Amino acid sequence: MNLKKFNSDYFSPMLSKNRKQIGLVTLLAGLVLACGTALYVPRESALISKGELKEMQGGRAVYISKCGSCHSLALPEKYSAQEWKALVGRMAPKAHLTSQEEAEILKYVTKNDSSLLGNH
Ligand code: HEC
Repeated sequence: MNLKKFNSDYFSPMLSKNRKQIGLVTLLAGLVLACGTALYVPRESALISKGELKEMQGGRAVYISKCGSCHSLALPEKYSAQEWKALVGRMAPKAHLTSQEEAEILKYVTKNDSSLLGNH
């Protein structure tokens, strides 16, 4: 593939060659960063109460600290709420979770499941 042609088509022809390279590096760094932060961060919203937000923030932290030692962390959107319920139940003893930690993780991974929104 003709990368030079692609670059000059895609980026403004006014940019110098150096600027184009900086742009490409920034683009790649952005992609890597985006992958590193794929686990959504709970935010305040009309559908989430303050108490739930706290629970979800705690759940995200516990999920990252206790569930990533044996395998990579599955994204919350990978499974339905029902599947997560079974999975977290099965994984809780492996990760030595307290019942509160289990509830927080479950809240975090299932809250963005659209089938649950409206039931809270
Ligand atoms: C002691 C090691 C260990 C810990 C800690 C652990 N897991 Fe697992 N996990 C496994 C093993 C082994 C499998 C594959 C076998 C299975 O599905 O039971 C698995 C499978 C999974 C799967 C299905 C495969 C996938 O990646 O989609 C999910 C989801 C999962 N674990 C979530 C969790 C969560 C959530 C926690 C924290 C509460 C956790 N795991 C902690 C060992 C662990």
